[in-house]
Amino acid sequence: MPQKNASGLEGIMAGETALSTVGKEGLDLTYRGYSIRDLAAAASFEEVIYLLLYGSLPARAELDRYRSLLITLRDLPPPLRVILEQLPPTANPVDVLRTGCSALGTLEPEGQDRDAHAIANRLCASFPSMLLYWFHFHRNGRRIETRAEAHPTVADHFLYLLRGEPPSALHARTLDAALILHAEHEFNASTFACRVIISTLSDFYSAVTGGIGALRGPLHGGADEGAMKLLERFSSPDEAEAGVRKMLEKKEKVMGFGHRVYKDGDPRAPIIKGLAGQLAEEAGDRTLFPIAERIESLVFSEKGLYPNIDFYSAVAYHFLGIPTFLFTPLFVISRTSGWAAHILEQRAHNRLIRPLAVYTGPAPRPFPSMEERS
Ligand code: SDX
Repeated sequence: MPQKNASGLEGIMAGETALSTVGKEGLDLTYRGYSIRDLAAAASFEEVIYLLLYGSLPARAELDRYRSLLITLRDLPPPLRVILEQLPPTANPVDVLRTGCSALGTLEPEGQDRDAHAIANRLCASFPSMLLYWFHFHRNGRRIETRAEAHPTVADHFLYLLRGEPPSALHARTLDAALILHAEHEFNASTFACRVIISTLSDFYSAVTGGIGALRGPLHGGADEGAMKLLERFSSPDEAEAGVRKMLEKKEKVMGFGHRVYKDGDPRAPIIKGLAGQLAEEAGDRTLFPIAERIESLVFSEKGLYPNIDFYSAVAYHFLGIPTFLFTPLFVISRTSGWAAHILEQRAHNRLIRPLAVYTGPAPRPFPSMEERS
C-alpha cells in the first residue's frame, strides 16, 4: 500500500544504513557506533575515512599505511591540470570540484584495475589538490606541487596548499575535527542523490558528481557560505540583532539555522562552536563571535530554531583564514568520504531507487488537432 505523499520525503524511512544514526530518539549522532563527540575529540579525519570505507578504526600501522597511500593519490594527471587551468577564475569552486570529478572519471575510469575503494581514496586525496591547484593558478599564476608529502593529514595538506606554509597545530587540529563533523550524515540530500544514481548501476564518479551538485545548494552544503556573508554584514551584535530581526519579519531564511531532522539542535553545532570559540580567542576577536552568538540567541528566541553545523563552521573557517568561497568545497572534501561509504553500501544491497508520485495533473482528455488548439 503506497505511503501518503510526504513533501521532500520528510519523515519517510527511504532505506537502511549501517553507517550513521541521525536524529533517532535519544540516540547520539554516531558513525558506525562511535559517538561524533569522541571522534571529533580524539580521532583524525583519516581514521574516520577508513572507518566509513572499511568498517573499523585502523590500528597504528594501518593508519600510517593509509596516510601514505592517500599522499600518493594527491597528484593530478597532466590532462586534469590543463582542464583546471581552462576553467574560468570566476567559476564557483564547487563547480571546479564537480568538473574535476567528472574529468577524472574519464581519465581513470572505474573498471578492472580500479575498484570503488580505489576511487574513493583517490577522490578523498585529490579533491584538495584539484581545488587549490585551480585556486593558485588563477589567483597567483602559480602551478603548485600538490603532493606535499611532509603534510600527512588531509587538514594539514589543505591548509599548507592554501597558505604555502605549515599550519599551526591548533589550526590543523581544528580543521581535522571540522572535517570529521562534516563527513557523514545518513540520507541527507546529497548522499541520497549518490545512492539514487548508483542504484541504477551507474559508475562511482557519476554518483559523486551528482552528490556535489546537490550539496552546492544553499539549503544544504552552501549554507556555510551564506552564513559567513550574513555575519560579515554586521559590525556589532546590536546591528546584527536588528538586521536579522528584519529578515525574520520578512520570512527570510537565516543561513546556518534549522534542520530537517534535528528539531532540538544539531549535536555537531556545539562542538564546532567550541572550536570556533577557541580560534576566535586565539585571534583576539571581540566582534565576529559575539555577533554570531547574538544571532544564535535571537533566532532561537524568535523562531525556536537552533544553529546547524554550517553556522559556526563558517566562523571557524573564517578564523582559519579560509576564503568564504572555499567553505562549501571543504564540505565536499569531507563528505566525499560519507558519499563513498554510501555508494559501497548501496551496491552491496542494491535495489533500483524509484519512489511513487501522487498525480495532480489534468484528467484524461482527447488529443486536439492543430486547428482545435487556441
Ligand atoms: C545541512 O539533511 C542533513 O543532514 C543536512 C546536513 C548534512 O550534514 O548533510 O545536516 C547539512 O544541509 C544543514 C542545513 C543547512 N541549510 C541551512 O542552514 C539553510 C537554512 N535552513 C533552512 O532552509 C531549513 O532549516 C532546512 C532546509 C535546513 C530544513 O528545512 P525544512 O525541514 O524543510 O523546514 P521548513 O523549511 O519547512 O521550515 C519550517 C519552518 C518554516 O516556518 P513557517 O513557514 O512554518 O512559519 O521553520 C522556518 C520556515 O520558514 N525555518 C526558518 C529556517 N529554517 C526553517 N526560518 C528562518 N531561517 C531558517 N534557517
